[in-house]
Amino acid sequence: MIPSIEEIRTFLERLGFDGKAVNELIEQIEYFETEAPERDDIVRDYLRDECIETIVNDIVEEILKLNRESIKLLDVAAGSGFFTERVKRKLEEKGVKVRVYGFDITPSMLRRLKEKGITPIWGVAEKIGESIEIANEHYGINAPKEFDMVVSTLAFHHFLNPEGVLESMRNVLKEGGKVIIVDVLKHEHEEFKETLKDTHLGFSLEEIKEMGSRVFKNVEAGYMEIYCEVGDIIVGLYKAVFA
Ligand SMILES: C[S@@+](CC[C@H](N)C(=O)[O-])C[C@H]1O[C@@H](n2cnc3c(N)ncnc32)[C@H](O)[C@@H]1O
Repeated sequence: MIPSIEEIRTFLERLGFDGKAVNELIEQIEYFETEAPERDDIVRDYLRDECIETIVNDIVEEILKLNRESIKLLDVAAGSGFFTERVKRKLEEKGVKVRVYGFDITPSMLRRLKEKGITPIWGVAEKIGESIEIANEHYGINAPKEFDMVVSTLAFHHFLNPEGVLESMRNVLKEGGKVIIVDVLKHEHEEFKETLKDTHLGFSLEEIKEMGSRVFKNVEAGYMEIYCEVGDIIVGLYKAVFA
């Protein structure tokens, strides 16, 4: 269920990534392997309790608007499952039957998800459907190919091809389903590319709306009234909902 780096190389080639992209993705994995054991504490460092609660509540509210008794939820680049676990718990408290899958490229993050009782799926966000096929075939896990809700928190700025990720999310969305992205707004801290392995310095609301409208019919994006603190640097957050 959790691949080795060698298996990952084979999977990435099978998914059609060229040598350069494979190396970039492996670099991301190596960075996040070291972050995995501490990821929950890192999130607590970045965000105060009320910020964490706001993110969880906003995601849950959007999910409740679907008005479904049971839902299949995919958390893309779920990391250690910090938000996945909290969203699942809150939905259950509200009486929603929820099947939650944590999708990530980094083996140690998948281990953390499994420890938290969240079904881990190895895969690349740019190719979600194809990755799920590989995971199902290789590990016999029978993960669904479509979801009512696709969420992603604090990860969008890490993706090599963000618009490709939106397309890949749309392709695994059930009729009437929704995608929710919570991530950092555009900033000027170039150093994060080195220190936090960020690929992009966040996105402005205009950029995210423009990108979203090339892929989805309905696009909403707005500032969140909370922010992320990285040491003494403050970065704003946005929430985008696509359907
Ligand atoms: C900053 S962490 C965010 C984790 C979690 N969503 C959270 O809010 O704490 C970014 C995560 O994205 C994953 N990741 C990076 N690029 C990815 C990709 N192309 N496909 C899938 N996962 C990816 C990393 O392994 C890592 O777990």
